[in-house]
Amino acid sequence: MRVYASLKSIGSYAPEKILSNKDLEKMVQTSDEWIQKRTGILERRIASKDESTSDLGVRAAKIAIKRAGIKLEEIDGVICATLSPDYMTMPSTASVISHKLGIKNVMAFDISAACSGFVYLLNLSKALIESKMYKNLLIIGAEKISSFVDYEDRATCILFGDGGGAAIVSQTTDPNKAILDINVSADGEYGDLLITPGGGSKDPCSLNLIERRGQFIKMSGNEVFKIAVKTLTNDVIEILEKNNLSAKDIDHFIPHQANYRIIEAVRMKLGFEESKTVLTIHKYGNTSAASIPMAIDDAYSSGRIKKGDLMLLDTFGGGFTWGSALVRFGGD
Ligand code: UT7
Repeated sequence: MRVYASLKSIGSYAPEKILSNKDLEKMVQTSDEWIQKRTGILERRIASKDESTSDLGVRAAKIAIKRAGIKLEEIDGVICATLSPDYMTMPSTASVISHKLGIKNVMAFDISAACSGFVYLLNLSKALIESKMYKNLLIIGAEKISSFVDYEDRATCILFGDGGGAAIVSQTTDPNKAILDINVSADGEYGDLLITPGGGSKDPCSLNLIERRGQFIKMSGNEVFKIAVKTLTNDVIEILEKNNLSAKDIDHFIPHQANYRIIEAVRMKLGFEESKTVLTIHKYGNTSAASIPMAIDDAYSSGRIKKGDLMLLDTFGGGFTWGSALVRFGGD
């Protein structure tokens, strides 16, 4: 019998502390008006000193596990997408999350695909579940990105926020609950446009690195913006055509939340109604790998997403990486 992978549940967590545009006005030369006009962001969340990326992932995962109604022993693997891991080399954030949740003796590892991480994870889960290797996977996109943001760089510090999102992807025989199709890709040619240059093997941690502020995220925002709009648009056209679908067949358009102007440009080019487009950018900013699952959960928790609804996910990020996914919501 054919089996499908199904997005069975979703969960998210946003730290309590709010960093508003007004707060940022006191830190760098910027204004609430500029940030709102150029990005659509009003505020973002910042994790506390005691919270690390794994803690944000654990909070989101607990909700996803509960909503899926499965036992910890039924989870066959834990995979985390993050660009702000608890530890730079090891252990993986997924390992830390597994331990904190009490999940034992199953695979746990991280992937690195920046903001596209969660869609990459769906792709991986689909393959692992449809091949019948595993039945239930816990996937997480979590970021304490504030640890890698330079709060002296107004071009980046206004954009990013912390958060976590998680999902249980499970085996099903019902095509009406299935992840229908995913397209993910990358092009390393543009790696330098959005990069954390130091702290890795190329430019290891040193006093000199810290003096150069090389441990922080750098972005050529305007160039990234233009490529993001084009890629996010083409991506969706491709996956819709391949599946003989059009914008009107989609119940929820859920784009990566990087900038309201990017989302609007893509939405209008593709002809999605505003009411079908999920937006969290105003309250969370860009939470990188957590952006898409947090947006799905926001729509689910407010009662917008129902079982069987067709979601179109669309993401773009550092690498460059990008991807789109057609997903029927498989939960209750
Ligand atoms: O998640 C991964 C993908 N990331 C993205 O997709 C982000 C893509 N990029 C962006 O969202 C936008 O490019 C930004 C929001 C980062 C910047 O907006 P922009 O409209 O592209 O502005 P810009 O970089 O072209 O800068 C315009 C002006 C410059 O001043 P001059 O040279 O015109 O005098 C900047 O120095 O705005 C200035 N500026 C600021 N002014 C006030 C840049 N940042 C700020 C700021 N506050 N925070």
